[in-house]
Amino acid sequence: MKLFGGAGGLWYGGDYNPEQWPEEVWAEDVRLMREAGVNLVTVGVFSWALEEPSPGRYEFGWLDTVLELCAEHGVAVELATPTAAPPAWFFRRHPEALPVTEDGQLLGPGGRQGFCPSSPAYRERALALVERLAARYRDHPALALWHVHNEYGCHNARCYCDTSAVAFRRWLRDRHGDLETLNAAWGTSFWGQRYGAWEEIVPPRRAAAFQNPTQRLDFYRFSSDELLACFRAERDLLRRATPGVPVTTNFMVHRSKNLDYWRWAAEVDIVSNDHYLVSADPRREVDLALSADVTRSLAAGRPWLLQENATSAVNWQPRNRAKLPGEMRRNGLAHVARGADGVCFFQWRASRAGAEKFHSGMLPHAGTDTRVWREVVELGETLRRLGPVAGGRVSAEVAILFDWEAWWGCELDSHPSVAVGYLDRIRAHYEALWDAGVTVDFAHPEADLSAYRLVLAPTLYLVSDVAASALSDYVAAGGHFLTTYFSGIVDPCDHVRLGGYPGAFREVLGVLVEEFFPLQAGESVRVEAEDPQGAGGRTREWAADVWTELLHLRGAEPVARYVDGPLPGVPAITRHRYRDGVAWYVATRLDAEATGALTEWVTADAGVTPTAEAPRQVEVVRRRTTVGETEAPYLFVLNHGGEPARVSASGTDLITGAPARGWIDVQPGNVAVIEEKGGAPGAAPSGGGQRRC
Ligand code: GLA
Repeated sequence: MKLFGGAGGLWYGGDYNPEQWPEEVWAEDVRLMREAGVNLVTVGVFSWALEEPSPGRYEFGWLDTVLELCAEHGVAVELATPTAAPPAWFFRRHPEALPVTEDGQLLGPGGRQGFCPSSPAYRERALALVERLAARYRDHPALALWHVHNEYGCHNARCYCDTSAVAFRRWLRDRHGDLETLNAAWGTSFWGQRYGAWEEIVPPRRAAAFQNPTQRLDFYRFSSDELLACFRAERDLLRRATPGVPVTTNFMVHRSKNLDYWRWAAEVDIVSNDHYLVSADPRREVDLALSADVTRSLAAGRPWLLQENATSAVNWQPRNRAKLPGEMRRNGLAHVARGADGVCFFQWRASRAGAEKFHSGMLPHAGTDTRVWREVVELGETLRRLGPVAGGRVSAEVAILFDWEAWWGCELDSHPSVAVGYLDRIRAHYEALWDAGVTVDFAHPEADLSAYRLVLAPTLYLVSDVAASALSDYVAAGGHFLTTYFSGIVDPCDHVRLGGYPGAFREVLGVLVEEFFPLQAGESVRVEAEDPQGAGGRTREWAADVWTELLHLRGAEPVARYVDGPLPGVPAITRHRYRDGVAWYVATRLDAEATGALTEWVTADAGVTPTAEAPRQVEVVRRRTTVGETEAPYLFVLNHGGEPARVSASGTDLITGAPARGWIDVQPGNVAVIEEKGGAPGAAPSGGGQRRC
């Protein structure tokens, strides 16, 4: 099988932790892996204490046996560096490597990832182990991929200890050069915070009053880079030992605010991601799709690996929902639809001890005579049949700008309203596009956007000059752009862009905001909109909350105005023709109905089309492979709803072998993957399912 981006098939498997079980169980493990069609396992993720039971004494015998067993049974190994779980002896020897919280609390050993990312002792011992591991297994036939660490920053993203303080100062010198520049960037004239010596600077520990926001922003940047330095050191060592074996580390894309994954994605050979459903989320399929689209975008469109998801319930939410029959399969295939070349789980065999014993596994506590196991086997077979999809790409006409720096900045304290959260509007606009059947990429604000018809920048609070002018150029050249309140407000130093909000986008939006009028919790306003497509100016009334602002038109036309609240009559939504393009501004937090209706207008205006006409709650995504000159499109149709769905399609269902002659009927909860013949389908046949919205 060719690894990633090839025509060899899809990966299937999960974290395999045989060290939790007696050796007699291992033979059964590999036998059952074959039965389930597992072809990739991640081994040794948390095995430091076993691989190096005491300082400098390495024991790899058990791992040799496991890798041999895998090789014999045709299961490729994604070998992990176990550096996410330093052993007890390490902390006994190096108590100075324990992390300190923002409140000055020294954390104890135990748990996992409980080390300071800047600790020299941690880095030294981790690399010594990785070097041994690489030397031992570099030529092993089972070795397919390196899995470095595990979910960097999941538990120890920021450490405020004295060692971190020294590293932070070093990082600040690199970024700012001299103290004058740092003082200017941090705006230290405010509250008399001026620094006269580097040694005076400490991490932004809890203080008597609001900490300096730019100091906090720089500390977030530093902390992401510090862990990235740990990753790079391991990766470089592995690349030297095994130049032909790709290296990955599992991301938690939109769940983790801690790491700037744009910077991280550039450093891995293969992007991999962990995605878990949130039990309390009523539209989990939308969250899943968002995660997959962010991951594909971080991978620059190349195939990526779903490194972890759950066969059923997790154990770390307040109430952990089990998946319904068919849900696990549909979830896995939704990731594949959006570019994953493999579906893996945490973990192969559900643990009987430890903190995660109530987390589902591929092989449940109750064994193989279970629903979960039968579904695991079925998914393995489905993925085998979907082999031809491997390497395929997904294309999109719409991009949403996503930026960890903007996220950090947006959610700093002492802002106009605590109710403005970064992911809130990202999800709202993404959900509206999902409902409209439109495929979305995510992009860094400084990326080349020329391939997109429409670009959205929800709550892009912090924006660089480069990004601001690239966005203006994009619109000037004919692009369509939509942004919301609390976007374009500050530069990367968190300094307000003067002259009226939103400083970075004022000209392109054709508006000037004089003052913010945030609403109180529970307060809402009514907004009256004139349907731009509606003949004779049909009006619509919507609800909005959280935010309003005193906006003046400077070339834009009003699309909607407040009916009540603090600013009756003031424009709440505007549209501006800017050179050859169009820029929309949403100055308040619209409810879901309004966001959906606005999305219809904006996408129609931009000429954006859905992948296919499909009933609500039916997800349709096209993935295409290219082999030489030949392109093969595959249409994924996932029915998340409770009614059978009919969708236009012509070709053959790769899963069932059934022909699709003009349309396909997909039962509730089921998935069809049509190898399309004769190009993309047209409109839905009459009588087949209702139209969206
Ligand atoms: C993360 C970790 C795993 C496990 C799962 C549980 O993804 O990487 O080790 O803890 O969560 O959901």
